[in-house]
Amino acid sequence: MRLANCQNIDDFQRLAKRRLPWPVFDYIDGAADDELTKARNSSAFDDVDLVPDVLAGVGEIDTSCTIMGCKSALPLMLSPTALQRAFHRDGERAVAKAAEKSGVWFGISSLATHSIEEIAALTAGPKLFQLYVHKDKGLNASMISRCQAAGFDALALTVDTIVSGKRERCLRSGFTTPPRFSPSSLWSYATRPRWTLDYLLGPKFRLPNLDDYVKEGTGKAVSIQEYFNTMLDTNMDWDTAARIRQDWGGIFALKGIMSAADARRAVEIGADAIWISNHGGRQLDGSRAPFDQLSEVVDAVGGEIEIVLDGGIRRGTHVLKSLASGATAASGGRLYLYALAAAGQEGVERALSILTDEIERGMRLMGITSLDQLTLDQVRRR
Ligand SMILES: Cc1cc2nc3c(=O)[nH]c(=O)nc-3n(C[C@H](O)[C@H](O)[C@H](O)COP(=O)(O)O)c2cc1C
Repeated sequence: MRLANCQNIDDFQRLAKRRLPWPVFDYIDGAADDELTKARNSSAFDDVDLVPDVLAGVGEIDTSCTIMGCKSALPLMLSPTALQRAFHRDGERAVAKAAEKSGVWFGISSLATHSIEEIAALTAGPKLFQLYVHKDKGLNASMISRCQAAGFDALALTVDTIVSGKRERCLRSGFTTPPRFSPSSLWSYATRPRWTLDYLLGPKFRLPNLDDYVKEGTGKAVSIQEYFNTMLDTNMDWDTAARIRQDWGGIFALKGIMSAADARRAVEIGADAIWISNHGGRQLDGSRAPFDQLSEVVDAVGGEIEIVLDGGIRRGTHVLKSLASGATAASGGRLYLYALAAAGQEGVERALSILTDEIERGMRLMGITSLDQLTLDQVRRR
């Protein structure tokens, strides 16, 4: 399969699988325990049907909206994800450029492989920084002040990784950051010479937002599980979130909210947005799908805070179903990561153009010309 033959996100997944050594592919594709939540994140959309209107005059349509104060060409964001240099030599740079071209939000992880300053200089598009609260308070303060100085548009505090999920594919493959050529996985690297040469000869793997403070993940290879469980602050609580909200001062989101009660507390600490998310099923397996949980959260805090539906999005119609059910926008990780792994910036651009096309087609077939016409009237639960 070639890039030009990729017609949907599943095609990019297949291409990524062919191009990546299996420990790297499994790090992207895998999830926690039995991966039930990951599967449900997407299948939840199948339980809700769209009810179109017709003869609506849909020659001109507008797919744009405002998310967290910035204009976006689509109601879709690229969720922050770690270690992108391991998936493609251009890493976050490729995603930043593709997002800018498509006019959509993207985010970099605390565990990004390019620096806050480099990404800020690269793109004028809307960008957020995803914060993991580390035990090292100096590191947390440094990430926040670097984002302020670099002019990031928003900070998203991830709240669903107080410990790491049990990611069994990674436990089996021994995947580490930086990727390490262990005897058990050597064969998979040898059979993917293009990736392996790119990794060995391309830009050095670094975690430049952390490596002044911690050697784990850069100088010292560790699993992501080990990183989370030793570096992150298990005492993080609502006071911590409120303090970070104050220290940051700009647009602030909580990523990983699932319950209506927590959504209410997010409003109380003055967050601008919540991401209903279970981390793509990588943390608590058996936790509910964001889409299943959306209406409960909308009932509790709709209109008081922006609500981003994160996880399981693979189709334009998934985005439309999310908006009709009350989300401000949808967001996804794997939907662009497979494409990044398959073909770098060009791949992400193609994935975004396919999703743009699906959203546009879906809107026309639904008989709407702007996103605010999507309401609960147009969806039915089976
Ligand atoms: C490979 C990978 C790495 C991720 N790294 C992070 C991260 O560093 N920080 C974070 O908040 N979420 C991270 N996530 C979760 C995503 O931001 C997002 O919540 C998730 O991918 C949504 O599910 P989806 O992949 O089905 O779209 C990661 C997800 C994947 C697949």
